[in-house]
Amino acid sequence: MIIAIDGPAASGKGTLGKRLAQHYGYRHLDTGVIYRAVAKMLLDQGFELTDEVRAVAAAMALDPTKFDHPELKSQRIGDAASVVSAFPKVRDALVSFQRQFAADPPGAVLDGRDIGTVICPDADVKIFVVADPQVRARRRTLEARGRGEEADEALVLADIIRRDERDRNRAAAPLKAAADAHILDNSNLDIEGGVRAAIAIVEAVLARR
Ligand code: CDP
Ligand code: CDP
Repeated sequence: MIIAIDGPAASGKGTLGKRLAQHYGYRHLDTGVIYRAVAKMLLDQGFELTDEVRAVAAAMALDPTKFDHPELKSQRIGDAASVVSAFPKVRDALVSFQRQFAADPPGAVLDGRDIGTVICPDADVKIFVVADPQVRARRRTLEARGRGEEADEALVLADIIRRDERDRNRAAAPLKAAADAHILDNSNLDIEGGVRAAIAIVEAVLARR
């Protein structure tokens, strides 16, 4: 059983992925963390984000099972991730790990931008999570402040919009809903409401089998 969750920045994919995995007893992979880790490797080594050769080398050297998650969550790394993730060869280097993760029993929930379209086009359930940009900016701002970081909501909104545009308009695995994805708009839902809506989608798919 594979559940694919995609959507724009800060739409609630990770939270939903984690909760669905808990609910069904599956493993969960936040694939954004992988691209963030590649970007951080490049920055730590002092290379330009536009250095494709170094970016591909970083992706190939990465051990996707070993990350320090909290420090990858910053806005700066998220923005950098969307630059390096546009290189097709960077993406190619990370495909097999993600597909293997998805295939291992008993089941998996993966969240990202291209899970339902490229990584797991045959996923059992595909959910494309959306929310108004203003709502996403507000949530991400509160989240950053909760970690003790300074965050300006207007800047967070600008960052989200810029990053979504870059992710939507790239040639390789752009951000878009798969034709068979269920759209879940959580602009007016709290986390529990979003989880309930997602479980209803999964249950409806299972009931049709
Ligand atoms: O993984 P993604 O970047 O799509 O989003 P997330 O990290 O799961 O969610 C972004 C923020 O929105 C987090 O702080 C969540 O707790 C919050 N959130 C919310 O307040 N209400 C929702 N219905 C969904 C997420
Ligand atoms: O949590 P948030 O939605 O802000 O970002 P993320 O899911 O951690 O992803 C960071 C960046 O990695 C995205 O803006 C994409 O450029 C890239 N990414 C991707 O290209 N493909 C994925 N499957 C996941 C993330």
